[in-house]
Amino acid sequence: MNAGIPLNDQIYWVGVNDRQTALFEELWPIPDGIAYNSYLILDDQVAIVDGVKDISIDRYIGRIRSLLGGRPVSYLVINHIEPDHSGAIRALCEAFPGMKIVGNKKTMDLLEAFYGIRENLQTVNDGDTLELGKCRLQFHITPMVHWPETMMTYESSHKILFSGDVFGGFSAIEEGIFDDESGDIRRHEDEMLRYFVNVIGKYSVMVQKALAKIRHLDIRMLASTHGLVWRSRPDRAIELYDRWSRYEAEQGAVIVYASMYGNTEKIMETIANSLADARVGIIKVHNVSRVHASYILSDIWRYRAVILGSPTYNTGLFPLMDHLVRLLENKMLRNRIAGLFGSYGWSGGAVKEMTGFVSRMEWDLTDPVIEVKCSATDEDLNKCSLLGSNIAQRLRE
Ligand code: FEO
Repeated sequence: MNAGIPLNDQIYWVGVNDRQTALFEELWPIPDGIAYNSYLILDDQVAIVDGVKDISIDRYIGRIRSLLGGRPVSYLVINHIEPDHSGAIRALCEAFPGMKIVGNKKTMDLLEAFYGIRENLQTVNDGDTLELGKCRLQFHITPMVHWPETMMTYESSHKILFSGDVFGGFSAIEEGIFDDESGDIRRHEDEMLRYFVNVIGKYSVMVQKALAKIRHLDIRMLASTHGLVWRSRPDRAIELYDRWSRYEAEQGAVIVYASMYGNTEKIMETIANSLADARVGIIKVHNVSRVHASYILSDIWRYRAVILGSPTYNTGLFPLMDHLVRLLENKMLRNRIAGLFGSYGWSGGAVKEMTGFVSRMEWDLTDPVIEVKCSATDEDLNKCSLLGSNIAQRLRE
């Protein structure tokens, strides 16, 4: 992928695939990599929209130069200044002297703080426009999706929305950059959800505000900073982000458990069997010690019911379950049906902590809450079956 990819007769994708980084934000696994999408608009005046991380910079600038034919670049539009989109900015300024950096006031504050850049700036306000020739850019400030300075840029001639992180997803560009070129769109949508949940989900309320703000635009193509460019079904990407940021869930349950010696696992199996017998939707089971939290969070965001189980560890929650519930609390996921189970040997603690967590999340806790001493008795296992069937009943309602 050495040449730019045309989006139309004037606009090219010139971004970078990152297959070197193991953890995005040093937190989230990206086994299939990630793309930093950058776009070049060739008009009477030339503009770059969105930059890239400080990797593959020579290839990136070479790709831009090969399309310019010696012309200067007039503008660099920064929709989002997080370093995965601005790490190459000094190299861009050196390669294209005289290029003005376009952003809002908060962008400029961060630009100076990150890179010490104070010159060749063009500050824009919400609704301002920039004429390039045939292409006309309009700036829509959409804060906290996912930083305070974030904005979206609408190109009205070709009806393209450059949306920043919103509508983005994990995974490098493989078969093609467009949604209709993907042979496995479901995998991309899964990685889009995992990106949304782990990176942007905390700001769901602000995503809703951003969606309301762009609703009046005639959008024929969505060009975000990560993942696919949606040219065939931009409405699909908007629909997904709308559902996820409203905390809307699919029918099904996620059971997440930890178990040191198999006793908590036995409880989990009984609950899962009872739930499966009721046939009320998908059931996903995750061992928190074996599956990265980013995938578990993604499934919890996807399905209506969450059942958490943990042994007591040093009078509290099992550490990896503790990590998971802290992440969930940080992401502020709302509107879930919850079930809880746990075990202890010489001191309780795990179930109490999980009960406090569900209460703080304002989730709908389903009876019975199960706490087993050492190993489950027949009476305990009957309660587990009851919890499974009660969760199934809630899912049916
Ligand atoms: Fe892709 Fe928030 O940076």
